[in-house]
Amino acid sequence: MTQPPVRYNRDTDIALICIENPPVNAIGQAVRAGLMDCLDRFADDAAARIAVIYCAGRTFVAGADIKEFGKPPSAPFLPDVIGKIEALEKPVLCVMHGTALGGGLELALGAHYRLGLPGLRVGLPETSLGILPGAGGTQRLPRLVGMDAALDIITSARHLPAQEALDLGILDELAPVGADPAAAGRVMAQALLDRGAGPRRVCDPPAPRIGADQLADIRARTQARYKGQIAQLTAIDAAVEGAAMPFHDGMRHERALFTKLMQSPQRAALIHAFLAERKVVQLPELAGVRARDFGQIGVVGGGRMGSGIAVASLLAGLDVTMIERDAQSAMLARENVAQTLGESVKRGKLTDEARTHILAQQFRAAESYSALASCDLIIEAVFEDMDIKRDVFTQLDRHCKSGAILATNTSYLDIPQIAAMTARPADVLGLHFFSPAHIMRLLEIVVPETTAPDVVATGFAFGKKLGKVSVRAGVCDGFIGNRILQVYRAASDHMVLAGASPYEVDRAVTEFGFPMGPYAVQDLAGLDIGFMTRQRKAASRDPREFVARWADVMHARGWHGRKTGQGYYTYDTDSPKGRPAADVEAIIAAERLEHGITPRAFSADEIIARYMAAMVNEAARVVGEGIAARPLDVDVTLLHGYGFPRWRGGAMHWADTQGLRELLAQIETYAGEAPYFWQEAPLLRQLAQENRSFADLNT
Ligand code: CAA
Repeated sequence: MTQPPVRYNRDTDIALICIENPPVNAIGQAVRAGLMDCLDRFADDAAARIAVIYCAGRTFVAGADIKEFGKPPSAPFLPDVIGKIEALEKPVLCVMHGTALGGGLELALGAHYRLGLPGLRVGLPETSLGILPGAGGTQRLPRLVGMDAALDIITSARHLPAQEALDLGILDELAPVGADPAAAGRVMAQALLDRGAGPRRVCDPPAPRIGADQLADIRARTQARYKGQIAQLTAIDAAVEGAAMPFHDGMRHERALFTKLMQSPQRAALIHAFLAERKVVQLPELAGVRARDFGQIGVVGGGRMGSGIAVASLLAGLDVTMIERDAQSAMLARENVAQTLGESVKRGKLTDEARTHILAQQFRAAESYSALASCDLIIEAVFEDMDIKRDVFTQLDRHCKSGAILATNTSYLDIPQIAAMTARPADVLGLHFFSPAHIMRLLEIVVPETTAPDVVATGFAFGKKLGKVSVRAGVCDGFIGNRILQVYRAASDHMVLAGASPYEVDRAVTEFGFPMGPYAVQDLAGLDIGFMTRQRKAASRDPREFVARWADVMHARGWHGRKTGQGYYTYDTDSPKGRPAADVEAIIAAERLEHGITPRAFSADEIIARYMAAMVNEAARVVGEGIAARPLDVDVTLLHGYGFPRWRGGAMHWADTQGLRELLAQIETYAGEAPYFWQEAPLLRQLAQENRSFADLNT
């Protein structure tokens, strides 16, 4: 028989109410109903003088059950459960361990006393899911910590460490290290009984108010920081407007705003992003496959990418040996790593002592492949040239132990060809990091057909250890992300040729929610990189493909983007973030003239329609060809490596919200102008014809 998710026990005069709903004790309907029953039992149990609410398992309640969102709500509702706790005539103590988030923290705010276990983190992350704390968080937290601190906690969605929660008054006490929730709860409950403590309700004192100027300032900062998002400002409204009302009216106001947000497309997109990030690492072919050990990492090449990978591994506690071609390069590589670790110190991620320790104990730079003999996983990050890779992999094959995994960080070279250079193709895979590798969260795990399942599982385990979001990708030029990127960039070039300016495109794209537009991104990456890519592809290019020659003209003038102070934008002390460069429009106009094109105007809506249609169409191809396992894998890739606005969920989620039939019809129209570029992806056509969505392929 399955156990109920909430259990009531009494130990002399202390009632113990235990929630057990693995994995994270999320509050779904059964937990809410179970809590209601246990609260009734406590109220009726004359022998029980105090109740302790705590959780079994790895954490306190991590929030309301996200999987219920979007479905019709079913009673009892969380605000009522919490209201019932708060109204009890006997004291209730909540004991929190692990993470007390969202509805979990709100539950605790309804209790009369709160105890934290060491290592606890608390927070109200609802705004990051497109909603607001809808079970009293916006009404009770300001009463406990003040309006300023409450608005910071609610809008930032951050997780507060236990000590900060104690300092702010969210916690009454912190239990000693090693305490167990039930035992620590009993001790504090007994102490409360001994001192005759009764119920102490957070809702009783009046809510703090905030001045109009201060509020305007907070709203302006929030709007700038969470551009395009609605949840943060609505949460501020709930807290501030609620504070001007009696508590129960404030609760009703909060609920009304919560319900409105719950129905918003942003909520659906953000929940999709949350769940997709978890599903992306769940691949049926890896079920039950054990990863190999990867305690000792080797990195070949100490340039920007190699040192970033080394630093990411070191910060995750792994041992790293880096090799370079000679002693001097090895010394430089060591300096690169030391400097990057120094940046982590500056950002407060690492202490200076920890940096010194890492460099002395966990890291070494050498000049010989033999230094990699005992490494478990070796990642190559050298120049993108097949002959150089051949040399590296031949050496790795010779010097690395049997069972060691050989990974390439190539962005586009043929990984099966690299694997075939070794006598162990089953041990070779791609680990495509994004620069700077110690900061960017995306890791594409590129899997040739020959790669052994436990090698792939090790790639995912390694990504997890580094705190990356890992996505499985099949073999093709550009894998998932860069392949799609090339196409939506090309769509931009088509629009610019037809009359849009690069600045109009960038503006429309940033207004849509990307942090940068495609031309500003090219300036950042370097226009020389784009030039090399065009050169590389020249031989295999279909003559019908349009390639913007203005980019070559700019390159020939030495305009390589930010690093030269000039690209699509001019970067100088007057405009460090760039202003439209004087001659760019003239260079483009000359090319239009050559093609006999009379430029026409593009609205921001049309720019986005075409940009997104190109992105979705190529993404559908990527899924249809099995390069991405599911549409959600594309979404996670674009969210974490390409600045796709999270509150729009990713290209595939966005496409579903637009309707695939509508998108297909648009592409058919565009194909009238440029039939080669706008060929429909077979999967998009199929889904549209069957009236299905990309989401249908995620399950
Ligand atoms: N509801 C339902 N399922 C949840 C959940 C939630 N609130 N939080 C986590 N899970 C699930 C995950 O989907 C995952 O499931 P699968 O194994 O099936 O993929 C499982 O729990 C484990 O989660 P993680 O892989 O994320 O585990 P972790 O140890 O890395 O992180 C965590 C744990 C910090 C709690 C993290 O899961 C997290 O941040 N969860 C969301 C917390 C949150 O946003 N809470 C607010 C909810 S909204 C709310 O409470 C509204 C309200 O006001 C009433």
